[in-house]
Amino acid sequence: MSRGRLLICFSRMDPVPWVAELQRLLPALDVEVWSPGAEAADYAIVWLPPQQFFDEQGERLRTVFNAGAGVDALLRLNLPSGLQVVRLEDAGMSVQMAEYVCHEVIHYFREFAHYEAAQRRGEWAVRPLRARQEFPVGILGLGVLGERVARAVSIFDFPTLGWSRSAKQIDGVRTFSGEAGLVPFLKASRVLVNMLPLTSSTRGLLNRQTLSQLQPGGIVINVARGDHLVEADLLALLSEGHLEAATLDVFSQEPLPANHAFWRHPQIRMTPHVSAATQRSVSIEQIAAKLLDVMAGRQVGGVVDVVRGY
Ligand code: NAP
Ligand code: GLV
Repeated sequence: MSRGRLLICFSRMDPVPWVAELQRLLPALDVEVWSPGAEAADYAIVWLPPQQFFDEQGERLRTVFNAGAGVDALLRLNLPSGLQVVRLEDAGMSVQMAEYVCHEVIHYFREFAHYEAAQRRGEWAVRPLRARQEFPVGILGLGVLGERVARAVSIFDFPTLGWSRSAKQIDGVRTFSGEAGLVPFLKASRVLVNMLPLTSSTRGLLNRQTLSQLQPGGIVINVARGDHLVEADLLALLSEGHLEAATLDVFSQEPLPANHAFWRHPQIRMTPHVSAATQRSVSIEQIAAKLLDVMAGRQVGGVVDVVRGY
């Protein structure tokens, strides 16, 4: 009987350092980096693969592991029918998201931009502390990452709210669910943190209608996907004054084009899709453990519902 094969197919990430570690943990498999025309495999680990990869694999490919949390780019491809898609669950990302979001919430709450500007002017310029009760933070999406973010924000005693598809109970977090819960959730939030997956139900969800529901002086922190946000609506609400600021880690087009209005906007802070990066060692361990379960016919966590889109 021929040995099982595992292919690695990455864009924007170097696959080479993954091979030796995976081969050590999975001695029963032949592990290789994919190149066009490679022999078909039973399993694959992918990040932003080309359609050509799946076109060449055919029916032999049974399970594909996404080397990230979000599967929106993968599900846009034409995948073989019956292919099991498994995504990363946390794998070192939730702590990064929690520190990124808390950093931004605290940056705005404590008005650090004011103090940085005052220092540049050589001014000793004290501001009264903002009222924490007037700084409610709402998190869209209470999954693996969103729940950790909600718990971290609530530790600083900000009123913390969360919205998800199914109802949830999280200590210290006021939760809302479903379409009916969205407007009450938005009206009770001043800072809006987006931690949703990008699906047909969530694309464009951050738009004029929804963002207008935030409390005055609203702040948007988008760390999920660029296509959740209608960029023109954000720019309009910032200039009209309903929104105070935005922190954006993700964009409809990445890298963001050089002439984009976001780059030099005084109310926008930006990072280049780094809020939670894939951590190689912990991701390899998680994927290898799941692959052993899959090979033994056991159920694994993180299986994507391809119809629902996450
Ligand atoms: P997850 O565990 O699948 O959680 C998704 C959450 O969103 C769940 O709470 C889910 O509700 C909720 N949700 C989905 N569709 C909804 C809808 N239509 N209405 C209301 N709630 C909805 O995902 P995760 O691991 O936390 O990751 C979330 C996203 O973060 C990823 O999809 C990815 O796009 C993004 N991300 C970004 C970076 C970065 O560096 N910028 C890094 C990693 C991940 P239920 O709980 O009821 O299912
Ligand atoms: C990164 O954006 C991820 O989805 O893991």
